Amino acid sequence: MKTPTRIALRGDLLDFTADPGLSQPHDDAARAAVRWRPDHWLLVENGRIVDAQPVSSLQPGEDWKRIEHPGRWILPGFIDTHVHSAQVDVIGSWGSELLDWLSTHTYPAEQRMADPVLALQNSQLFVHALLSHGTTTACVFPTVHAASCEALYETAKAKGMRMIAGKVLMDRHAPEALLDDNPQKTAQICVDLVERWHGQGRVAVAITPRFAATSSPQQLQQAAELMRLAPDLYLQTHVAENRAEIDWVAQLYPEARSYLDVYDRHGLLGPRSILAHGIWLDDADRAALHKAGAQIAFCPSSNLFLGSGLFDWAQARDAGVAVTLASDVGGGTHLSMRRTMLAAYQVQAMRGGRVSAWALLHAATRGAAQALHLSDEIGTLQPGCLADITIWDSAVHPLSQRRQSVARDLHEQLFAWVTSGDESDLVETWVAGVRQFVRLD
Ligand code: GUN
Ligand code: ZN
Repeated sequence: MKTPTRIALRGDLLDFTADPGLSQPHDDAARAAVRWRPDHWLLVENGRIVDAQPVSSLQPGEDWKRIEHPGRWILPGFIDTHVHSAQVDVIGSWGSELLDWLSTHTYPAEQRMADPVLALQNSQLFVHALLSHGTTTACVFPTVHAASCEALYETAKAKGMRMIAGKVLMDRHAPEALLDDNPQKTAQICVDLVERWHGQGRVAVAITPRFAATSSPQQLQQAAELMRLAPDLYLQTHVAENRAEIDWVAQLYPEARSYLDVYDRHGLLGPRSILAHGIWLDDADRAALHKAGAQIAFCPSSNLFLGSGLFDWAQARDAGVAVTLASDVGGGTHLSMRRTMLAAYQVQAMRGGRVSAWALLHAATRGAAQALHLSDEIGTLQPGCLADITIWDSAVHPLSQRRQSVARDLHEQLFAWVTSGDESDLVETWVAGVRQFVRLD
């Protein structure tokens, strides 16, 4: 029998045991939800968290490999619920709103992924970049090319990483080279990907119609049929991001009450549906999302960069809709979930609200894990979860060190950390108990 790998990681553990609420950092709900365990051993056996004990009360035995990070923060790895792997090439493309941005910058970049060698290089760069930003799980749009999905799945599997992704479906209103021209062939490709990849390692397939404007009604129907291939497939798409996009979708689907209703009518809303943006939804849409148990991936960096609008987190929450956080690269300008949290705070501030550091960190960890039905595996430091974890300095730059030194409580520290630091604070990223990123000091 193989000897178990036993690792004891020492540091200050921070995770959540419940939802801390949106905007009150110091109320009872928040206090009860935040689990702060300074100077603890996190015990990991065969890739899984098995226990956590104060350093003062436990000395791990000889059969535990000790990794010591006293004074550093150990957090669950971040979860980015909406990102496009092939769009690393278009980050920071100047000058346009969504629809023009797609045709000018994005579709040409995605066309390059027809080359399997480039697709593999792109996936490797992308996955490494996620890990070097502290992201250990992502819901990803590769491109329409099966090879770009395969490359992403292969790369994630090699790292033992949780990855939710699927072939992008488009059969109209995009360059010919990116269109699915034969529904039978499309079905065959998707069935094959599901059969070979869904549940392989930690890969899960998401049926991925890009958005209502680039899928015909027949293709949306096909997406709903593909969802029946397995009960635990995900569905990911975009909704109500940009005014011109919404007008266009209304012309294309005149029978639908709203943009979201296009998906609802095609049976695409369910508890495993991830809808990016949702800025311009109305009450009926939010009620439909709540009823379906679907989540909104809030992409603040992208929404600001493309000038799409200011998503109202409180309104979605009040309607009982799960909201997670996402980078949406390349509409978003970086893969950093910390900068995404900052942007989320800023967008809510522009709407007159304030969200706590707890709400931000929770949305990027436990909240996303719950919305993805993966809370037994990721999102917390709970025994039983896989050890997808990140180890952080509270500050490395003198200015951030100074700011941390004058913080009066943990929330102030964490909020300043989220808003003013960067990934140079990231010391290590672990995936299923294996160190996959180490900062070079
Ligand atoms: N809507 C349809 N495709 C895309 C995309 O690639 N990025 C964003 N931000 N919105 C989209
Ligand atoms: Zn997107």
